[in-house]
Amino acid sequence: MENIQYIIRNYKPTDKDMCEKLEMQVLKRVIDFNNINFIKQHGYFNEKLSFILYDIVKKYIFGCILVSSQNNKNYVSSLCIDRDYHRLGFGKLLLNTILDNDFIYLYVRESNKSAIALYESNGFQQLNNNNLFYEDGEKKLYMVKK
Ligand SMILES: CC(C)(COP(=O)(O)OP(=O)(O)OC[C@H]1O[C@@H](n2cnc3c(N)ncnc32)[C@H](O)[C@@H]1OP(=O)(O)O)[C@@H](O)C(=O)NCCC(=O)NCCS
Repeated sequence: MENIQYIIRNYKPTDKDMCEKLEMQVLKRVIDFNNINFIKQHGYFNEKLSFILYDIVKKYIFGCILVSSQNNKNYVSSLCIDRDYHRLGFGKLLLNTILDNDFIYLYVRESNKSAIALYESNGFQQLNNNNLFYEDGEKKLYMVKK
């Protein structure tokens, strides 16, 4: 982390393309925040609670946390760090930008042990009383920080 010259700042609309490329690289999907079903379920994209990490030398967005909000609930739709920057504390840094807010929730694959460890070590709890699954059949864990 010390060797990387970076800034952390609020998401801006001009970050969209770079963030989508990162999401495709890391998560293999991009959320359409204007999709009406997504909005009904999770609310509107919340720029104030969405942040990016920018490598000043490489002029490259290597991490982002994207959040939607409604009725005092905040949904983390994406938290991703470029593979080359993993395990340096950047995921934790991004997550910490939003942790002061009330009721944050997210979904995570049961097999995604690194993300689950990150969330649990930052106060998220698994609420497994749901029966949700991804399209490929993997269990979808619901995690909440109140
Ligand atoms: C999950 C992700 C955001 C973590 O980012 P990161 O910058 O590598 O994580 P950090 O360095 O901040 O790690 C913070 C904590 O998370 C946990 N963690 C992160 N990577 C881990 C790994 N590979 N194995 C086990 N625990 C891990 C550890 O508890 C770690 O704390 P520690 O280093 O003190 O042990 C990153 O791996 C990623 O982008 N993964 C792909 C996208 C994804 O799955 N996003 C979440 C979707 S719900």
